[in-house]
Amino acid sequence: MQQLKLLLLLLFTTTTTFTFSHAHNITRILADHPDFSTFNHYLTATHLADEINRRTTITVCALSNAAMSDILASHPSINTIKNVLSLHVLLDYFGAKKLHQITNGTALAATMFQATGSAPGSAGFVNITDLKGGKVGFGAEDNGGNLDAVFVKSVAEKPYNISVIQISKALTSDVAMAPAPGPSEVNLTGIMSAHGCKEFADALIANGEALNTYQDNAEGGLTVFCPLDDAFKAFFPKYKNLSKADKTSFLEFLAVPVYQSLSMLKSNNGVMNTLATDGAKKFDFTVQNEGEEVTLKTKIDTVKITGTLIDEQPLAIYTTDKVLMPKELFKGAAAPTPAPAPAPEKAAKAPKGSKRAPSTEAADSPADSPDDDPADQTADDNSGVKAGAARFLALGLSLCLGLLLL
Ligand SMILES: *[C@@H]1O[C@H](CO)[C@@H](O)[C@H](O)[C@H]1NC(C)=O
Ligand SMILES: *[C@@H]1O[C@H](CO)[C@@H](O)[C@H](O)[C@H]1NC(C)=O
Ligand SMILES: *[C@@H]1O[C@H](CO)[C@@H](O)[C@H](O)[C@H]1NC(C)=O
Ligand SMILES: *[C@@H]1O[C@H](CO)[C@@H](O)[C@H](O)[C@H]1NC(C)=O
Ligand SMILES: *[C@@H]1O[C@H](CO)[C@@H](O)[C@H](O)[C@H]1NC(C)=O
Ligand SMILES: *[C@@H]1O[C@H](CO)[C@@H](O)[C@H](O)[C@H]1NC(C)=O
Repeated sequence: MQQLKLLLLLLFTTTTTFTFSHAHNITRILADHPDFSTFNHYLTATHLADEINRRTTITVCALSNAAMSDILASHPSINTIKNVLSLHVLLDYFGAKKLHQITNGTALAATMFQATGSAPGSAGFVNITDLKGGKVGFGAEDNGGNLDAVFVKSVAEKPYNISVIQISKALTSDVAMAPAPGPSEVNLTGIMSAHGCKEFADALIANGEALNTYQDNAEGGLTVFCPLDDAFKAFFPKYKNLSKADKTSFLEFLAVPVYQSLSMLKSNNGVMNTLATDGAKKFDFTVQNEGEEVTLKTKIDTVKITGTLIDEQPLAIYTTDKVLMPKELFKGAAAPTPAPAPAPEKAAKAPKGSKRAPSTEAADSPADSPDDDPADQTADDNSGVKAGAARFLALGLSLCLGLLLL
């Protein structure tokens, strides 16, 4: 039942995403207006354009090239620019007419900045107020009540999907302008805890040595494969049984000291060293792709990547459906010494309590060849028709993936 609901939800979200992604293309809308070229460039560079194209009932407050240069003057990082520009995307539809007819003359609009969860409290809301003389003022809610930007003109209206308006200057917010945390300041366990990997995060927090190793690597490149809560809970008795040093090795085994985006993982089959790899102690695993699916394998088990918690170079954190077990700590067979290894996988005598289902690899469809790329490349000459087809195909693939995951 739960699975059916999940499936329906998945179907619903993927199909709505698909439908909405056809509704508008902010890059194309702004391309007709050279005075917004800098704004447009940064919407693309920060990937906010994709997010805007995915949504409906939104208002983009566009900034002229001159207004953009105020933001860029302090040389903010791309993540800070993303925060500031996401404050300029209102999650409601405000055409020119509605702006001048706001109930009670004032409203607070939620923004994409607020929706990202990076904005605390009321930061991330924009105050829109009808001022005297037919002017409409805009101000970030955490800007001391100052409405220093005003509505200039309507740029494009596609009711009620997207309204693009020009405002006179950038909305200023200390919170949005605050330097976005660098990779070494990102709270790794906080991200995990908030997104279904609390058990694993708690194990890391309880092990200062492993947590430090993670943090030391976050700056130079780190990819973590954290098991989802149910999986880690089921595994916990085994984990608890490990010595302190082995616990540390185990936790360090689930991260690699390089940044790997999902597409890098998808195009890379092979052995990976981990944070636990240390001379004789190999503690490695094998990345193996099956179509759109990325699996990680050791002699003990195989796990699937099921989601992405963060993917911002140099840091990526993925979730896995099961706990990947290093052969150094969990023997496939009884022999405690790395003597002649018993035939791997299915041939091996299953250790107590690990009645593993037969490998699912054979069941994975070989038909998952992502042949949407050529279509994507010709999209520009075909006014998006082919791009639509490609997206439809991609949708099909992701649905198949979703079904496999369920
Ligand atoms: C939006 O338009 C731009 C410029 O025409 C194009 O490069 C981009 O691929 C389009 N995006 C989508 C999602 O169709
Ligand atoms: C408008 O003001 C009235 C009276 O102050 C209040 O009851 C109502 O909730 C306000 N409406 C909105 C949409 O804020
Ligand atoms: C918006 O700001 C103005 C001026 O500071 C204030 O009077 C008004 O109450 C604010 N509106 C809302 C909905 O908070
Ligand atoms: C709004 O989006 C829907 C699809 O989500 C589309 O069918 C419709 O044509 C769009 N309306 C406008 C005015 O672009
Ligand atoms: C990071 O997140 C964890 C788990 O949510 C929390 O206990 C810890 O206090 C956070 N650390 C910092 C420095 O914010
Ligand atoms: C814990 O270790 C003991 C001794 O090595 C073993 O007998 C027992 O099965 C282990 N328990 C689990 C849950 O792995």
